[in-house]
Amino acid sequence: MLIKNPEQIRASEITPEAIYLDRRRFIQRGIGTALLTAIPASLASAASRYSTTEELTRLKDITRYNNFYEFGTSKGSPGIHAGALSTHPWSITVSGACEHPGNYDLADLIKAAEVEERIYRLRCVEAWSMVIPWQGVPMGKILKRFAPTSKARYVAFRTLLRPAEMPGQRRDILPWPYREGLRMDEAMHPLTLIATGLYGKPLPNQNGAPIRLVVPWKYGFKSIKSIVSIEFTESEPPTTWNLQGPDHYGFYANVNPAVDHPRWSQKKERRIGDIFKRPTLPFNGYAKEVASLYTGMDLRKHY
Ligand code: MTE
Repeated sequence: MLIKNPEQIRASEITPEAIYLDRRRFIQRGIGTALLTAIPASLASAASRYSTTEELTRLKDITRYNNFYEFGTSKGSPGIHAGALSTHPWSITVSGACEHPGNYDLADLIKAAEVEERIYRLRCVEAWSMVIPWQGVPMGKILKRFAPTSKARYVAFRTLLRPAEMPGQRRDILPWPYREGLRMDEAMHPLTLIATGLYGKPLPNQNGAPIRLVVPWKYGFKSIKSIVSIEFTESEPPTTWNLQGPDHYGFYANVNPAVDHPRWSQKKERRIGDIFKRPTLPFNGYAKEVASLYTGMDLRKHY
């Protein structure tokens, strides 16, 4: 896997990263958030118990090394082309087995006051990884408002279909629109996040603006970007990469170093920015939190 040569970093990119790192040092030294008057309130929240303290991946890498096939298949394409996507206004259609289906405006769905910070590892099936400081709302909090019924066993998500602004959708790269899904208990798990920002700023388009899913114990392809539809279903919903390669990409896609992908060994990963590979951890290091969701399941079969 080739990593692009470092480019000039724009000042607008340096600022939030520097503020972020300063803030983390303050919090780690226990100085507290009250002193951080120069920093917006949204950045000054206390660290979540779900956040890792590992070194953050640089903003430049998070926003220049992407998978977002709607904007092309190379890692640099989303950073170049996604700026053309218009994300205002943005509404989300909620349907299926719930008491409050409808068309919701994004601002009504995500209240600024509820947004929290989560620093998570992201592990791509292509054997690279990052550490990303997300802002967002636990998915369960949002889903509860739609009052899913007892028939809701899964949640299905869809990305925007807009070939005029998404050049990749004019080509037969994947079955569009991009679809993903989770079992209800996975969607309601406190680690599962609807992200609205990273590094204290609204989500860059290439990272899935204005909202994307983040499921840190699963391979990155489960973390669907630019969501416009949420549907509660009784049966397991079809998902894009599983449709594309049923033998290669399962519905569950839990990070599992014991099950290799035909193209990539999953035993190790390269943290973007590092030279040497590191071992990949079961459930991407979140086994304590999520392994019990899969008790009794053969995770070689349900890959
Ligand atoms: N969502 C959509 N709609 N389209 C995509 O191509 N790629 C997935 C996931 N979500 C993808 C997507 C893959 S393979 C990964 S690894 C992550 O997004 C990458 O997220 P990042 O670019 O923010 O690191």
